[in-house]
Amino acid sequence: MRKKVIAGNWKMHKTIPEGVRLAKSIVSKMEKKPPAKTEVQIFPPYISISAISQVVKGSKVGLGAQNMAWEEQGALTGEISPTMIKSAGGKYVLIGHSERRAYFKEDASMINKKIKLALKNKLKVIHCVGETLEEREQNLTRDIVLNQIEWDLKDLKAEHMRNLVIAYEPVWAIGTGKTATPAQAQEIHAFLRDAVDAVIAEGVGKKTRILYGGSVKPENAEGLLSQPDIDGALVGGACLEAGSFWKIVQAAEKVSK
Ligand code: 13P
Repeated sequence: MRKKVIAGNWKMHKTIPEGVRLAKSIVSKMEKKPPAKTEVQIFPPYISISAISQVVKGSKVGLGAQNMAWEEQGALTGEISPTMIKSAGGKYVLIGHSERRAYFKEDASMINKKIKLALKNKLKVIHCVGETLEEREQNLTRDIVLNQIEWDLKDLKAEHMRNLVIAYEPVWAIGTGKTATPAQAQEIHAFLRDAVDAVIAEGVGKKTRILYGGSVKPENAEGLLSQPDIDGALVGGACLEAGSFWKIVQAAEKVSK
């Protein structure tokens, strides 16, 4: 069974005290009504991870980083290594977010190195894929995501996939309020399972958790999360407020068998 995951990507929002407050609010909701069938994870900015790790300690809220360097250490000004993330209390890392690809020019070989290094360091990975609007309009969605699976996950074996979750985030749906319809998302999620089978090994696709991301809100969460191949959500805007994030967690609980 693939347990649902609701993950909040805070992006570049919240100072340390604001982040601590938000995390406290999420932890308190978790304690009042612990979700039985849904994992909850938060990804604050690097600078807040250490403080927030104290807040989530002893709770079921998973904590991770939004990015990571492709080397263990070295002359990489401004970068953060996997051991640093772990020493701050992070257990998860987002890799290959479309904002990293677009604004920071991360390419497949860099993403592949980051994924391998994260897994080697026992960080669990959320690997993001997705097409731009232009690519969708040219009917290239399947080619693009297959290519991302093929090159970003190069050399990975079935055992690595136990610690990796895929997030399908169509770029045109991120921060735009334009969500993929449940049917559009479902179609690509099913395709991604086949892509994982083709690239990694037969049978791995159906065991891999695949989240949807892109304007997930309390209003559309249930429709998306009830699709058979959608195992959760990677939430941006709606995770910045504990109440709306929590409604999405509850939607996941409601649709989980
Ligand atoms: P929004 O939910 O704000 O569209 O962001 C999605 C996202 O990029 C999560 O990683």
